[in-house]
Formats: sequence, C-alpha cells, structure tokens
Amino acid sequence: MNDVIKLDNFLFGGDYNPDQWLKSPEILKKDIEMFVEARVNVVSLGIFAWSAYEPVEGEFHFEWLKEIIDNLYNNGIYTVLATPSGARPKWLADKYPEVLRVNKDRRRIGFGMRHNHCHTSSVYREKVYIINRKLAETLGDHPGVILWHISNEYGGECYCDSCQKAFQNWLKDRYQTIDRLNDEWVTAFWSHTYNSFEQIEAPGTMELGEWAMNPLLLNWRRFVTFITKDFMKNEIKALRDAGNQKPATTNFMYDYDGLNYKKFSDIVDIVSWDNYSRWHKFEDIEVAYDTAFQHDLMRGIKHKPFMLMESCPTAVNWQSISKLRWPRLAETAGLQAVAHGSDTVMYFQMRQARAGMEKLHGALISSYGEKDDRIYEECVSLGKRLEGLGRCNSGQVPVQTAFVYDRENIWALEDSFGPRNKDMGIKSLTNKMYKGLRRANLNVEIVDMEDELTGYKLVVAPLAYLHRAGFADKVRKFVTAGGVFVTSYWFGIVDEDDKMHLGAVPHELTDVMGLRETEVDGLFDGMKYKILKAQGATDKLKEEYSFDMLCNLVEPTTAKTLMTYGSDFYAGTPAVLVNEFGEGKAYYLGAHAEDAFYEDLFDYIVEEAGLDRIIEEKLPYGVELSSRYLGDQEKVFLQNFTRNEIAIDTKVYNGTLKAYETVVCDKC
Ligand code: GLA
Ligand code: ZN
Repeated sequence: MNDVIKLDNFLFGGDYNPDQWLKSPEILKKDIEMFVEARVNVVSLGIFAWSAYEPVEGEFHFEWLKEIIDNLYNNGIYTVLATPSGARPKWLADKYPEVLRVNKDRRRIGFGMRHNHCHTSSVYREKVYIINRKLAETLGDHPGVILWHISNEYGGECYCDSCQKAFQNWLKDRYQTIDRLNDEWVTAFWSHTYNSFEQIEAPGTMELGEWAMNPLLLNWRRFVTFITKDFMKNEIKALRDAGNQKPATTNFMYDYDGLNYKKFSDIVDIVSWDNYSRWHKFEDIEVAYDTAFQHDLMRGIKHKPFMLMESCPTAVNWQSISKLRWPRLAETAGLQAVAHGSDTVMYFQMRQARAGMEKLHGALISSYGEKDDRIYEECVSLGKRLEGLGRCNSGQVPVQTAFVYDRENIWALEDSFGPRNKDMGIKSLTNKMYKGLRRANLNVEIVDMEDELTGYKLVVAPLAYLHRAGFADKVRKFVTAGGVFVTSYWFGIVDEDDKMHLGAVPHELTDVMGLRETEVDGLFDGMKYKILKAQGATDKLKEEYSFDMLCNLVEPTTAKTLMTYGSDFYAGTPAVLVNEFGEGKAYYLGAHAEDAFYEDLFDYIVEEAGLDRIIEEKLPYGVELSSRYLGDQEKVFLQNFTRNEIAIDTKVYNGTLKAYETVVCDKC
C-alpha cells in the first residue's frame, strides 16, 4: 500500500473495542463475519484498554488481546495497535494523583474522562513507558500488527509546578539570558520585566495571572507543542527499547489549534487524522471544500499520503444535533479522503458501544447488529468500491500550488488585540481562497513557513501577519525565480515574538510587493463595502465585488492597481494590486471579499501563469474535482456533494452524477 506500512490495498476499517465485549463471544464472532463481508481489512485496537491490560498495578493481561488479534489476522484483518495513555486506570490516578492535570485555574482535576494527564509527570511517563514496552514485547511482533497508534488525539495542557518548571527551562534554551527574553518580549511594557527565568509563569485565567501578554501566550503555545511531542517521544522510545521497529502514528484532529502538528512530522512515520465533518449542517459542497482543506493540510505535514484514522459512516452523537447522512454520502466522503491522498478509510466505531457517552454514536455495526441495516449496507458498498480501486501504492497528489497555513502565525493573529478582535476572518478567508483555487481545477498542497517554496508555481499566503523561519526571504526568492505569489491584508507585520516591525511593512518585502501597507480598517458587523475594477484591468474580473470585516490601505510604488476601494474616505485608493518582480509576480488582495472575487481572480491567475489544471472544463458548482495517482495512473475524482443530479460534460467523463455520487476516471 504504502511506503510505510508496505501493503498493497487501501485499508478499510476503524476503531474496534472488543475489550467492551469480552463476555459476549457470540458478538465477537458476528463482528468478524460482518467485517469480512464489508471487506474490512484493518482495525485499531486497545486505544482505551489500559484497565484491561493492567487491572491492578504491575499485573499484566494481554492474552485476551492476543486472541483477538489472532482471530482478526486469520480473517485477513490487520491491527493498528494503540498505546493506552489516553485514559488511565482508576488505581493509577488514586495512587499517583500527580499524573492528573492541573487546569489553567491552577486546580488539579479529579479522576475521570480521558485525555487529561500531565505531560511532565515523571510517574505518568514511567507508567506509560512500562505498559507500552510490555505491549510491544508481548504483541508488537505479531504479524497482524502493522502500525502503532500512539495514544489518542493528544491535546490540552497542564499548569502544574512541574510543567511550569519545564516551561522555564524551555524558555532558557530558547533565549539563553533573561535580558534577551526581556528585549524580545519588550517586557518594559506595563512594567513586566523579569529578573530571572524562575519568575516566569504560564498564562493564567483572566482572574488569575498573565492572560494577555502576547509573547508569553505565543511561546506558551509553542512550549505545549514541544512538551506534548516530548511525551510522545517517550511513548515511542518504549516500543523501540523493546526492540520493535514498526511504524508509528498518532491521530490528529480537525484544524486543532492547541498543537502545531507540523512539528510532529519528524516523529510520526505516517500522518493520520480524525474527520468529523458537519455534513448537512451547511451546504454540503461548502462542507466538502472545508474537509478537503483538512485532508490537504494533513497530507502537507509530511508531503506524503496519510491515513483517515477515524470518521463516521453516519451521525456522531457529540455535535449539537445528530443529523443522519444521506444515502451514498458515507461513500463519497470516504472517497474524498482517498482523492486527497488518504490510503485508508477508517471509522469510529466498528461496533456501537453498549453504554457510556458513545452509545448513540454511529458505527459500522449498530446495536441492531444485523446485515440488513442501511449504514452497514453503505459500508459494504464502500468496502467493495475501495477493493475495486485496486492497488493503492501510496500514490501522490500532483500539485503546483502551495497554500501557506502556519499554526504559529494563526496563534499570533488570534491572540493579538486589534484590528478586529471579534473575528479576523482567518477561517473564512482561508476557505474563500482555498475554494477559489479548487474551483480553478487545481490540487493544492498546504504548507507552513518552515517549508520550502521552490518547486511550486503558485503560492498563496493569506493573513501572513507573523513571519518566521526566513519566510520573507523565501517569498523573495520564489518571486524572483518566476513564481506567482498571492497574499492578503495584514501581511508581514510582526516578528517571531509578535513584536511590530519598525519602518515600512510588509517587512523586507515592500519591493517585492511594490507597495507599503499604511492603515488597516476593521469594519463593524453588517457593513458591506465595495471594491471596483480599475481601468484596463482584466476582463476576467467583474466591475465590482463586495467585502466586509477588514481591509488594508496601501501606498503603491511599482505595483499596478487591479481594483480600487469604492467606499468610505479611502474610496478610489488601491485595493487589489499586482507587482512584477524579478521573473515573477506578486498579488496583494487588500480586503476580505465575497467568494466570487477569489474564484474569478484565481481563474485569471491560473490562465495567465499557465498552470496545469486537472481538467480544462469548468464544472458546475456542487461538484468537487481532485486528482491523485493510483499505481502509475493519474485518476480524476468527480464528486457530487449535492442532493441533485448534475450533468457533466468533460473529456474525462460525460454523464450524470447522482446525488452524492463519485466517479473515478483516468486522466486522459
Ligand atoms: C474522537 C476520539 C474517539 C471517539 C470519537 C467520537 O475522535 O478519538 O475515541 O471519541 O471522537 O466521534
Ligand atoms: Zn503538569
């Protein structure tokens, strides 16, 4: 399948909790029978099974697990084996309360729930190391085990004394001297100068502590990523110390803001993530683009195919309303992941839990437990479809376009006060620009500022407010060498510690952009302004578009104006500009405009820059188009994300797509 797992076929399956059914052998038997019929060839086991592995301290029981893995393997089903650190047994929390997390309000939590341990507790690290090592020694070599699933959805943060100490040490490493930290953070502001690293405390709640000091907030977030990764390294070390070299992953979450996942790229062998799209809550094609962005984001972490580790064939039970899925949506959503580079379609959960918080969560096998169940039938159909796709081969997604989405920049944007505390439009501008690119029939790779830009033809970087990792230099080189660069308002304003650049901005890029940003305007909710086409600008652009939220005023030097503002005291000044620099071009999009603007502009840019489109024909709104190599063949995926039939007339496919139908065809 894949250069990491080394299997040929797509994997189909998901989280399976037989530890909840050990006293019901008839259920376990039926599960296997139904899995086989649905072409299930992988399950994830043991994610929350610590109390079954080690019911009392130091007493280990893996026989039951071995029997399950054997049985699955004998039926052609592989195991992704989890380390159980996501939830600990009661005896552990009772005996070693320091393993439990201290919240931001500085109070230690009691036993309960999951995903709430301290990352620096030496006892917890030791206990996790022991259980992981035992697990690896006992079952790691089983031929059925193909991958380690480290913990589950790492997230959150701990504010205990030991975590505070680790934060101080991390800061010491980063800044070396307290003077340097004071300078970089400009702590003279409001008299917050520190005399030593020991005086520094993690951010607190509004009532308690330092909650609004930007460089502290930003560096605390960086530290949380560092310490979570460090915790994960300790988990993996236990497996390697046991002599096991099987690949490892950990399941990431949708647009999770608590960690910079890119930093995990060197310790996960393959990226995996859990997708719970809010189908039917909004227009499905919009949900589809939003989901597609997440798939691309996950593929971009290692620039390689990834795994869809969890999703749901029907409604989940933790969103505010559990809406049933339309027929065929499960299949099309699964194939969408594949189209964007997933080598798996996996679900939470394989069998519906009997009790607890997740008893009403959708599953491949429901509590009814028989084959004549609508969702099970849909799963069978998808299983067969995946099998029919043939060799997976970990095919790449061909891309010429990169989209810069940098978590540290997003943190800085979110925590900064002004220019629009209500909503900077990060999510909506991202969605609009991404959709514009996809509507122009492009595949897109999501990168961050640490990535290289060479090799792409088009780089889009909205709201790139904080530059780090030599980003300005990368942009300069990229444009000089002939690349097309597109950015938005609020570009190149602060340094890595969120400190304002002095002088003209965008910092170090005023010549590349051919302009200077002067003032930024936050619009009140409900205010809709206009941008108007400048004389002589391309016919691809309409005469006017609306915008809201934010806009940047600029003073051009060499940039040419494509559109001007049509409202307020700045009417008539440039809003959208392009600058020729070196062999390339740099576009500046000054306002948060309506969707049509991005669609029209990217259509123009793609044509002008001579980028390869997946297909030439423009498709009706509602159809998502992507392509990916399967084996040696580039396959084109056409997916109808609406409830209507849509007629398609293209060189690769001519016919009608039913509601939520996917066709996969060869790229001719
Ligand atoms: C997350 C978790 C799973 C399960 C699902 C429910 O993704 O990883 O254990 O709780 O949510 O949707
Ligand atoms: Zn802690």
